[in-house]
Amino acid sequence: MSSEVVKQLQEAVQFSPENVPLRLHLAQVLLQDYQYTQAEEQYRKVLELSPDNAAAQLGLARTFYHQQKYSAAIVVLEQLEHHEPDHFDGLLLHCRILVKENSLQAARDIYQHLLQLNPGFRDEALDAQFRMPQQSSLSAEDDLEEEDQEGIFSMEKPDINFSDVGGMEREKQEIDLKIIKPLQFPDLYKAYGKKAGGGILLYGPPGCGKTYLARATAGQIQAEFINVGIHDVLDMWIGNSEKNLHSLFELARQRKPCVLFFDEVDALGANRNSMRNSGASHLINQFLAEMDGIAANNENVLIIGATNAPWSLDPAFRRPGRFDRIIFVAPPDTEGREEILKLQLRNKPLADLDYKALAKATAGYSGADIKAIVDMAVEDKLMEALQKGVPQPVSQKELVKAIKSHKPTTREWFNTARNYALYANDAGLYDDVLKYLDIKK
Ligand SMILES: Nc1ncnc2c1ncn2[C@@H]1O[C@H](COP(=O)(O)OP(=O)(O)OP(=O)(O)O)[C@@H](O)[C@H]1O
Ligand SMILES: [Mg+2]
Repeated sequence: MSSEVVKQLQEAVQFSPENVPLRLHLAQVLLQDYQYTQAEEQYRKVLELSPDNAAAQLGLARTFYHQQKYSAAIVVLEQLEHHEPDHFDGLLLHCRILVKENSLQAARDIYQHLLQLNPGFRDEALDAQFRMPQQSSLSAEDDLEEEDQEGIFSMEKPDINFSDVGGMEREKQEIDLKIIKPLQFPDLYKAYGKKAGGGILLYGPPGCGKTYLARATAGQIQAEFINVGIHDVLDMWIGNSEKNLHSLFELARQRKPCVLFFDEVDALGANRNSMRNSGASHLINQFLAEMDGIAANNENVLIIGATNAPWSLDPAFRRPGRFDRIIFVAPPDTEGREEILKLQLRNKPLADLDYKALAKATAGYSGADIKAIVDMAVEDKLMEALQKGVPQPVSQKELVKAIKSHKPTTREWFNTARNYALYANDAGLYDDVLKYLDIKK
């Protein structure tokens, strides 16, 4: 991460000191850049603004960890575990610290908890410490590798397609033209000098349907959907990761046609510089090489990445043949919200509803927000039905009440994105964000 980025972020933070995601991002960049005391200061400020912020608690604990302030780290992690007892990364760090401090019994307990949360979890150092010595023969090791993959990627044939995705007409059309049609008519594309292949990067605020749209894309072409969490790749495979990454791409080739989906892809891209001196930088180079390989051979493997933080992604990821098509997934517009409401309410007992009014009342709400509102209203009605002993259709009243009690969750993201779009809009990357915010360049 260049000092230029740090400087820009520091300026942006000065400009909006209460902006939690922005400050959190600055803290994370500082942490990745080994500037632990500065990262610590930023995480502390985030926690002043937002005391239960789990990402900040984890970040603060990491800065302590790197400064070998183990007991301070444990205090923060215990606070984190108090409100999120199953926080995987928090527990993992806690476990590592206990091993360092030689509190092996307590570390073993946490290690068991980690395995319960994710049976496919592997960690070389911790496994060596706690796992029974059982796999000695080669074939046993092969088994282990297969298990690994199951624990980490989820593979499915999605039962949803574009018709289950409300609104997003522009996004669907772009996906159709940029990856589905080239797959269906490769010769035609070739004849016009257009290369098929390459990946699509979806970015935007949380809950606006990136993952959902990627799954629906696979469903649309009856392809397999392989979902890979990059954090998992990084955290679990340190040491053995390159081999596993190769087997992942091999798996995709065997399962074609398929959609290979990388969630939180910025986590991989952002770490490239800070990992330069570690073995893990090979992982990123290999990731890019594997992607190039898929692109060059038109393999019927569609690659889709998703991120909330495109500004953290190393530009190398955006070169031709890689994530060279970038799509902003915006919060749904009025028609989109109406469609999502209808989709989320279908198959439920309903009174006559004024969808237009509900759509109007939910400006700025994400698809996930709308789903949460519908869930709330349905629960409300269910309670009433249980009390009265007669089924009650969901009506406008509960939905309006739920909308009032649920604030839209996309605003914070735009506070951060606005700064990047205004001050770091390389090659017009965030023009769509500016357009959405109605800011003229
Ligand atoms: N356009 C839509 N149509 C129907 N449902 C939607 C739509 N957008 C979001 N949803 C609902 O909201 C849920 C959350 O969306 P999703 O997980 O795809 O968001 P996301 O953009 O990937 O968020 P994050 O950045 O947090 O990963 C979906 O599972 C789906 O139920
Ligand atoms: Mg997602």
